[in-house]
Amino acid sequence: MKDVVIIGAGAAGLFCAARAAQKGRSVLVLDHANHPGKKILMSGGGRCNFTNYYIEPECYLSQNPHFCKSALSRYTQWDFIDLVTRHGIPYHEKKDGQLFCDNKSSDILNMLLDECRMAGATIQLETSINEISRDGDGFSLQISTDSRPLKTRSLVIATGGPSIPSLGASGFGYDIAEQFGHSVFPVRAALVPFTITDQLRNLCKALSGSSLPVSVTCGQKSFNDDLLFTHRGLSGPAILQISSYWQSGDAVEINLLPGLDIASEFKSAQAERGKVHLKTWLAGFTTQKFAEQWLAYHEIEDRYLAETGKKTIARLAASLHEWSVKPAGTEGYRKAEVAIGGVDTTELSSKDMESLKVPGLYFIGEVVDVTGHLGGFNFQWAWASAAAAAEAL
Ligand code: FDA
Repeated sequence: MKDVVIIGAGAAGLFCAARAAQKGRSVLVLDHANHPGKKILMSGGGRCNFTNYYIEPECYLSQNPHFCKSALSRYTQWDFIDLVTRHGIPYHEKKDGQLFCDNKSSDILNMLLDECRMAGATIQLETSINEISRDGDGFSLQISTDSRPLKTRSLVIATGGPSIPSLGASGFGYDIAEQFGHSVFPVRAALVPFTITDQLRNLCKALSGSSLPVSVTCGQKSFNDDLLFTHRGLSGPAILQISSYWQSGDAVEINLLPGLDIASEFKSAQAERGKVHLKTWLAGFTTQKFAEQWLAYHEIEDRYLAETGKKTIARLAASLHEWSVKPAGTEGYRKAEVAIGGVDTTELSSKDMESLKVPGLYFIGEVVDVTGHLGGFNFQWAWASAAAAAEAL
């Protein structure tokens, strides 16, 4: 009989295992993948954006926005930074409080594995869980590597979300939640690029690889960050952020030159530099490639500024400042960093993530209906929810 079995050797599962084992609990982590923490290794472009200086509950989406507050306030970004520092892992702030490893994401994974090893938590990979049932006050698991059932007092579900199935992601945690009578909110891809299928696709293709700092809005939510044109549509941090707030059929409003009033810039340029071409002038605010493609797409003639009329400039200004785009969809779980939705938090304790329906059953990390913004917020939720559960285990 184990004290604790954790399903999922990802960010939340490994951190919870280490902390529960440090308290003297016997802990076994099961994962069907052949390597632990695959998403950690891939994260942050290989440098793992492991937390953010500015963690706030407002940076998380959930049907129950207050739920994340307790765990986030009890295990903070400063606690995790302290752990990273104690392990001698060099890191830096990239921008907006986002902390990345100087070297590789494997620094964070190795730190978690070291913590597990030092505390005596065992990790068993390439193990499928065929069946889970209630067994007295505990649980009985049928696993692929043993014909005898595995017994545990507490069971922690840390199987993450369905994004990037090639890394071992699955909807298993949602199935277990439903099996034990929990509600699961519908799940959809988030922090994900948009696809474009109408004539705009050609412009995106032509500008593929170009990036611009923009302001993007969907409903009441806006983000200022970079937009990246891709062969299939739009990406970049601004788009990934807004995708979490986007529903199929919505338009997103994009200001391609935030902080500028291109019509008044034009007025003074026309007076002082009348013999400059519109394209050359626009390239001064963007890039040569962008200016060329943008004017062509909007069928705006590249004349001298002196010969460019007010109506043309009004049209150009509207196209740049109020660009309304209706994405066809998203790149889906294949490219999404996270999934929105998951286990309904009103049926979990916000203090320790324990099921309010089945004592001894815990849900932590991304499987729970708590999804962070881009920038280290999702890992901080994994650490904080794992620490909250470990306190109770
Ligand atoms: P996680 O996905 O880490 O772990 C789940 C584990 O469960 C996996 O090991 C999986 O194999 C296992 N599992 C699943 N189904 C199973 C089953 N049926 N049986 C057994 N085991 C099973 N966040 C951030 O804050 N900063 C960043 O830089 C990034 N970057 C990033 C890049 C990319 C490409 C992706 C896809 C995601 C990110 N993220 C991120 C998001 C971050 O990776 C994510 O929020 C956390 O990994 C979630 O941690 P969990 O432990 O909940 O799930």
